[in-house]
Amino acid sequence: MIASSTSMGRGRVCGATVHRPGSRVRRHAVVRTLQIGALLTLVVLAAGCAGDQPDIFRPGGSAGEEIKTLSYQIFAILAVVLVVVWGLLAFVIIKYRRRPESEVSKTRGNLTIEIVWTLIPAVIVTVLFVLTVHTTRQIAMPDPGAQFAAVGHQWWWEFDFPDQGFKTANEVYVAVGRPTSIDVESVDVIHSFWVPQMGGKVDMIPGRVNHIRFVPLKEGRYLGECSEFCGAQHGKMRFLFVVVSPEEYSAWAHDQARPAAQPAGAEAVAGGELIRTIACGSCHTIRGTSMKGTFGPDLTHFGSRSGIAAYTLPNTAPNLLAWLQDPQAIKPECTMPTIPLPLREQQQLVAYLEELK
Ligand code: CUA
Repeated sequence: MIASSTSMGRGRVCGATVHRPGSRVRRHAVVRTLQIGALLTLVVLAAGCAGDQPDIFRPGGSAGEEIKTLSYQIFAILAVVLVVVWGLLAFVIIKYRRRPESEVSKTRGNLTIEIVWTLIPAVIVTVLFVLTVHTTRQIAMPDPGAQFAAVGHQWWWEFDFPDQGFKTANEVYVAVGRPTSIDVESVDVIHSFWVPQMGGKVDMIPGRVNHIRFVPLKEGRYLGECSEFCGAQHGKMRFLFVVVSPEEYSAWAHDQARPAAQPAGAEAVAGGELIRTIACGSCHTIRGTSMKGTFGPDLTHFGSRSGIAAYTLPNTAPNLLAWLQDPQAIKPECTMPTIPLPLREQQQLVAYLEELK
């Protein structure tokens, strides 16, 4: 690429010494356009193929289905526009190249042409507007009553089920087929709740309660993410949104409402005693223990979750140990402090937390 652009530049500067510099420049431009096109296609395909990544073309919720349909409609209209415009452009470039200036047709002052090419985009925009309004009305649904609140924090998610008496973090379950309404709030800055495959996104604004509603249609595990820039770790503010059968949902909610399990293994028992003597309880709650902090995620059923650090890493003992030893290395500027303990005690904390199923 660098070599070709250099030779292209030389062709322009020393035009007299190079054979037909104009055609070379054109050839380079065409090759460059094809290269960029191929690269963009690869990027789009790679994004679409990445296994666990959110994909709006594989929706799992009612609003997501509507948005997918709208996306295809808009793509189709824009594809027609693209083909027509590029087709006309290519036709004109090929048919009318190398014409003397005197033969170029003049369109200035032609009222009919002016009106036509003002009306065409106006009609296209009107059609896009009508389709969008239609989709918005399709997505709207009666309020089934909020099941839970999603609360944004820098940089993690709190899910509060006041009716069932529990809070969880960074992983939440809903029942397939059940109209779902979520209150969305924030305790610090503006975040935005987004599970791409369920549907639209809703801003989470401090001091205000917004709502998002949809019907989860397909069981599965969906990635949720923050879609409003909210600070250094905005990109690592993710959560897992799990759609399960109504029976599985009831079992999950029942499990979450229980107080924390008593540790069984010797290491976990030691970790359970240790965690209450250090400062963890000033930020974290473990229901059924003396830990009642509310600044950080509720850890009552920490071991049942798939990810740690707002779904940044899989929830494994080695990852949790690395997190306790140096959270700033994993999420710079997060509020989780390093736990300055001997390795053996860090391992006991890990054993205890992983037993909190
Ligand atoms: Cu929270 Cu971006």
